[in-house]
Amino acid sequence: MDEFRYGDDGLQCEDVSLEALADAVGTPAYVYSRKMLDAAVHRFDQAFARVPHLVCYSIKANSNLTLLRRFIEWGIGFDAVSGGELYRAFRAGAAPKRVIFSGVGKTRDEIRYALNTDVLFISVESRAELDMISAIAVETGRVARVVLRANPHIDARTHPYISTGLKSHKFGIRIDEAPQLAQEAAAMPQVKVVGVGCHVGSQITALAPFKKAATSLRDLGRYLQYQGLELEYIDFGGGLGIPYGGEAPPTPEAYADALIGVGQDLGLTLVLEPGRAIVGTSGILLCRVIRRKSQGQKRFVIVDAGMNDLIRPPLYGSFHQLRPVRCREGKEVIDLVGPICESTDFLAEKRRTSRLQPDDLVAVMTTGAYGSVLASNYNSRPRPAEVLVDGRTFNIIRRRESYKDLIRLEE
Ligand SMILES: Cc1ncc(COP(=O)(O)O)c(C=O)c1O
Repeated sequence: MDEFRYGDDGLQCEDVSLEALADAVGTPAYVYSRKMLDAAVHRFDQAFARVPHLVCYSIKANSNLTLLRRFIEWGIGFDAVSGGELYRAFRAGAAPKRVIFSGVGKTRDEIRYALNTDVLFISVESRAELDMISAIAVETGRVARVVLRANPHIDARTHPYISTGLKSHKFGIRIDEAPQLAQEAAAMPQVKVVGVGCHVGSQITALAPFKKAATSLRDLGRYLQYQGLELEYIDFGGGLGIPYGGEAPPTPEAYADALIGVGQDLGLTLVLEPGRAIVGTSGILLCRVIRRKSQGQKRFVIVDAGMNDLIRPPLYGSFHQLRPVRCREGKEVIDLVGPICESTDFLAEKRRTSRLQPDDLVAVMTTGAYGSVLASNYNSRPRPAEVLVDGRTFNIIRRRESYKDLIRLEE
C-alpha cells in the first residue's frame, strides 16, 4: 500500500496535495500517512494472531506522541529504551502491562522509574545490571520481572552500525553464559525471571538470521524451563527490514511464520519489538529547493532540509528514493544536499531524477523511521514540523521549532 502517489496536483499523501500542505505548514516537514500506519500495524499484529503474542512498538523509531496515542488505540504495546521513552509512553496513555523496558545502559533512576510504574518486564543485559535491578527492587519493595536478553552471536547481515547480535557487540548476555546467570537471577531477592529475549539488528532483509537467532533463543528457553524456571515470554526483538530501494525483505506473514514455527512449542507469549517495519514507509521528508549549483562536473541541488533533519544518509549510507512533487521534463544526475557546513550534508548522491528548479518541492521517501527522532539543532536550525495526514485533512503533530525554542533552555 502506497498512499504517496501522483494526482492532478502533483504528489499527494492520501487525498492531500503536498503542495497545499507545504504552503500551509512550510518546509522542511515530516509527513505521515495515517492509512499506511494503520495498515502496517494491523498487518504486523494480524500475522501473529494465531498465537498468544504482544507487539511492543519500538518507540525509538518514531516517538511522536500522536503516533503513540494511535498505536494505543490500535491495541499495540511499547518497547522503551530510556526514561524519556517511558515518560512518552505513559504520557500517551499506555497501560504499564503493555510496556517493556530495554537498553544496555539503564541508570538507577531509569530502573526505579520502570519498577515504580510496574512495566511488564525489564530486559536485562548483564550481571552487573541484574545486581542493580535486584537492589533497587528491594529498596522500592517491588518485584522486578526480568527477561534475559541473550546475545546469540549471529550475523544479521545488515549495516554494521545497526547490527547488534555478535559477541563483539556491547549488547546482551552471551548465550552460553545465560543459563548460569538465569539461575543466579532466580536466587536474587525480589527478582523473577519471566522470559528470554534477543534483538540481533535492524533493517534485516533475510529470514535466515531471524530463524537462527530464534532457534538459539528457543533452545535457551527450553533449557531454562527444564531447569525449573517458569517462563512466560519469548521476546524476538525487532529488526524486520523495509524496502528503501530494491530490497525485498520478508513479508510480516513470512516473518511471523518463521518465528511462530520456531517458538510456539515452548507455550510462551511471543513478544515482538518492531519499529522500522511499522513506521518506516509511512513517512516522508518534504523539502523545498533553495537553489542549484554546479561545481565542475557535479550538479548540486540545495534544499532546505539537511543532515540535522535526516542524518541517515551520511550516518548509515542509507538510500532514500526522491520524488519531485511535480515532475518536469528531462532527467539529470544530481546530489541533493542541505545548507549545513559539512560535506556529509547530503540526502541523496548521484541520483537520476527529473529536473529540479528553485522553489520546487521534493519528497525524500521512506523516512518515517529514524528520521525525526534523530533530528538535531546543528547549525542552530529549528527542527522540522511533523504532520499527520488522514484522508483529506492533515494536522500538525509537532510544530516547527522557532528561533526562541533554540535558546529556551539557555536563558
Ligand atoms: C532492543 C531493540 N528492540 C527493537 C528495536 C527496533 O528495531 P527495528 O526498528 O529495526 O524494528 C531496536 C532497534 O535497533 C532495539 O535496539
